[in-house]
Amino acid sequence: MKSRVLLGVTGGIAAYKTPWLVRLLVESGMDVHVVMTRAATQFVTPLTLATVSGNRVEHDMWEKPFEPQIEHITLADQADVAVIAPATANIIGKIASGIADDLLTTMFMAVTCPALICPSMNVNMFRNPVVQRNLNRLRELGYHVLDPASGYLACGWVGEGRLPEPECIVEEIRGLLAPRDLEGENVLVTAGPTEEPLDPVRFLTNRSSGKMGVAVATRALARGAHVTLVAGPINIPVPQGLKHVPVRTAQEMHDRVMEVSSRMSVIIKAAAVADFRPAVESADKIKKEFAEPHIPLAPNPDILKALGARKRPDQILVGFAAETGDAVENGRKKLVSKNLDLLVVNDVTRPGAGFDYDTNIARFLHRSGLEEEFEIMPKRKVADLILDRVRDLRKNLKTGGER
Ligand code: C5P
Repeated sequence: MKSRVLLGVTGGIAAYKTPWLVRLLVESGMDVHVVMTRAATQFVTPLTLATVSGNRVEHDMWEKPFEPQIEHITLADQADVAVIAPATANIIGKIASGIADDLLTTMFMAVTCPALICPSMNVNMFRNPVVQRNLNRLRELGYHVLDPASGYLACGWVGEGRLPEPECIVEEIRGLLAPRDLEGENVLVTAGPTEEPLDPVRFLTNRSSGKMGVAVATRALARGAHVTLVAGPINIPVPQGLKHVPVRTAQEMHDRVMEVSSRMSVIIKAAAVADFRPAVESADKIKKEFAEPHIPLAPNPDILKALGARKRPDQILVGFAAETGDAVENGRKKLVSKNLDLLVVNDVTRPGAGFDYDTNIARFLHRSGLEEEFEIMPKRKVADLILDRVRDLRKNLKTGGER
């Protein structure tokens, strides 16, 4: 059955982003019911939101003839998740103080499902201690608050207060709807490329975008795990709520990973780590006249191999292999040599698989010998499949089963 999202829209300029937000939610298979404040209807019309959601949009408590169900209670009862985006300083203050003087606030008062508030306003309004106190109050009461993004604001100021992009809000909502089946797990994910410096301006790297690793980290967080993300230089948003440790070189990634690995119950190594680095890093920019036509290389530590060698009996270790040829045969060797529980193999030469795509074509090689092959799918879905296998492995380990 479709998840039902109750979306409250209040009167801030960022309301212009809500038709897109509704469309993304509908595309992700959710049933969206919109309730607007009177002010919100000045920024975006109920007709627009009704058209994109495919459902009636409510904004007035009194306009309709009598109906036997009490509307604000029915809307609240049926919701799987309730969201207010954008949330103005006014609605934040009202909810924090228990005021219910229109359809949206009255309905919100009756909500028992997880609720997400997405503040959006001018930076000085956002920093106002009254607004901050109200937001803290909401957090203490169990509301989820999505911090606003920083950047250009409609009022001309630059600072925090922007409504996060609709894609981020969808991800948060997905998180609130996800089963919390990884609660209690400490998950370490590595993502992205590494950069191996040659001189102050040049480095060796690869085409990894970090999308696969960040998808795994995002889904693990949504499913209740504590997540640490050790990532090379990436240019994609990382969700709030996880510990992001940015690194540059393979050696740095190795050092940060080793510092925390003993505290982790699950380690998923999606990073594309450079196997070699320039043997010497020049302190000065290498001049054309003095450059050698070859670069001597030195091997980097194999982080995954080191983790496999010191793996505890309760630790679950997942590796990735980007292959261009004998994907399965090479993968099986890697699974054994690195002491992994699961290896996710993708042939990066296939369109839609691997670096920088939003999709992947994955094959899972299990330690038990089992092999699974999947169709092309979004990286988020691949991430969920990996985490499903991790959850199953954990169940198996707890009941004394084989890996
Ligand atoms: O052997 P190969 O580099 O193909 O193995 C890929 C897997 O090993 C990935 O999970 C990657 O993150 C990890 N790896 C590593 N340290 C390296 C090279 C690869 O942890 N130096």
